[in-house]
Amino acid sequence: MAGIGMSWTDYYAKTQGRPPRPTLLEALARFGGRTGLAVDLGIGGGRDALEMLERGWRVVGFDSEPAVLALPRHPRLTVRREPFETAELPRADLVNASFSLPFCRPDAFPAFWGRIAAALNPGGRFAGQLFGPRDGWFGDPGITFLPEAEVRSLLASFDIECFDEEEDDAETPRGEMKHWHIFHVVARKR
Ligand SMILES: C[S@@+](CC[C@H](N)C(=O)[O-])C[C@H]1O[C@@H](n2cnc3c(N)ncnc32)[C@H](O)[C@@H]1O
Repeated sequence: MAGIGMSWTDYYAKTQGRPPRPTLLEALARFGGRTGLAVDLGIGGGRDALEMLERGWRVVGFDSEPAVLALPRHPRLTVRREPFETAELPRADLVNASFSLPFCRPDAFPAFWGRIAAALNPGGRFAGQLFGPRDGWFGDPGITFLPEAEVRSLLASFDIECFDEEEDDAETPRGEMKHWHIFHVVARKR
């Protein structure tokens, strides 16, 4: 398993009941109550998907982890067990990728980002995180790290609404100290 050092199912157990990610809440606030179809990349334990469902969105969640197929059912939720590297995305108003995109293999990342940008309707939003080169996991061949300039160039056809760089030492869900270098992004496709 890339970097994280624990199974994703253990990660879901450790993060169960935690609130939705601030990047998702920011993106939802910017829709001003409008809803549509959201793609949740790396749906995991569903902390973000639940929030979107409660606000009336339809959600298509993608994740390679078999455990996601046991997520509670909801009439507006579809869960697809597919890896990012080959996933074909439906057209969407919101692509949410909380702490998940870095776990796309680096060789597959450019094409995957291309599919994300193509899937978004004009005026749709991307919300999520990318890891920078000073992250403590840098060098793990299974994880994608991008310098700030490359993250910004991914967003060339977007209006950037939030772009926060975080660099600090904090515990992983496994309880190990780690140096984090994260870009938190919310951006609207032109
Ligand atoms: C750090 S967890 C984040 C989960 C959730 N989005 C959250 O914010 O708590 C990363 C998620 O991405 C999924 N994942 C990792 N690599 C993946 C890949 N290559 N394709 C699809 N899903 C992947 C994992 O199974 C896990 O659910």
